Amino acid sequence: MQDLNKLWKIFKDKFTDTGLTKGAFSAPGRVNLIGEHTDYNEGFVLPMAIEKEVVMLGQLRNDRLVQVFDFVYKTEIKFSLDSLSPSKKDTWTNYLMGVMDEIQKAGYPLQGTNLIFGSNIPRKAGLSSSAALEVVTVLTMVKLNSLDIEPLEMAHLSRRAENNFVGVACGIMDQYISCLGQKNYALFIDCRTNKYQLTPFKDHNYQIVICNSKIQRSLINSEYNKRREECKRAAKFFTHRLGSKIHTLRDVTIEEFKQYQQCLPEPIARRARHVILENYRVQAGVQALRKKNFSAFGKLMVESHRSLKDDYEVSCAELDLLVDLAIEQEGVLGARMTGAGFGGCTVNLLKRDYVDAFEKKIKKEYKKTTGITSDIYITRPAEGAKVLENKSDRTD
Ligand code: GLA
Repeated sequence: MQDLNKLWKIFKDKFTDTGLTKGAFSAPGRVNLIGEHTDYNEGFVLPMAIEKEVVMLGQLRNDRLVQVFDFVYKTEIKFSLDSLSPSKKDTWTNYLMGVMDEIQKAGYPLQGTNLIFGSNIPRKAGLSSSAALEVVTVLTMVKLNSLDIEPLEMAHLSRRAENNFVGVACGIMDQYISCLGQKNYALFIDCRTNKYQLTPFKDHNYQIVICNSKIQRSLINSEYNKRREECKRAAKFFTHRLGSKIHTLRDVTIEEFKQYQQCLPEPIARRARHVILENYRVQAGVQALRKKNFSAFGKLMVESHRSLKDDYEVSCAELDLLVDLAIEQEGVLGARMTGAGFGGCTVNLLKRDYVDAFEKKIKKEYKKTTGITSDIYITRPAEGAKVLENKSDRTD
């Protein structure tokens, strides 16, 4: 992926050199270790960037045209910066157009650009391939146009693109970690204040392993938006009972929940329980990692999965199977579904010596029951979006 000379060759075969600023950029996917469906409740999350990424190469043009070539899927599109509107046909282009639209709406000027990009993040697998595409597009446009925009603002622009242009009411987690991830660290993000703390994750005896169920997430947008509404209803209920100190479910304590849960209708009570307890699990998980108590962290992962399955109801049979198979294996400390759910991946915490055996066993048993060959990715926490090369690096 990162052989830039080869990628520049693809670029040159596709576009005539404009002689203007050019550069190469990347943005990673992510896996969320714990803290699911908490970001849009202004709660806590603990994702890490993964060693899979989107790479984008670009060069400014003298006009308002944007030409894009996806060198993995071999598709291309042209559009003008003066007429950006969501495409029903080439939906992948909405991530790029959406970001450019948001940058312009925020008052920053953009010039036309030639772009190529490619990704090795599996699509629709809950590893944020779309957030990575948004983030790499923002970074490319910001750097080529020499705009003064900080990484956190880039994350917000990307999220707004997804909300307003793509039409998914996602929270901030995916774009945030893709922008701000750091090697050897997970990020403990407070999704109310947008402050983050680095949480070390570099013990050589332990390994994060991701299992792809290969079930492509269906119903995801409608169910996701439904959960958001249910959380809002629950928060409103607590504001009514406890006063204006309650803005979102983030503000409700476990004791307050227990006191009033009987008065909440189903499934709202279960949805609220998931979010409130998950916020506690993230905080406990961060403490556990700081003390290098990996087995305590693993237990919290399993609790999180049970809660997503039974209370939040965003898991599916295949994800549950992957988790059940994992926690039976020797050397596995924890396993849970990761991302929005309804398919996609599980994240597993293992003792490193057991990784090979785990991989073989999971593939075999998962295939036996479902007929599907799962993909397994072994990854360390990676760095967030970055400049790989800018115009001053190249003389040709
Ligand atoms: C998706 C969204 C995130 C977050 C997760 C669930 O990945 O994009 O903002 O809500 O689902 O934790």
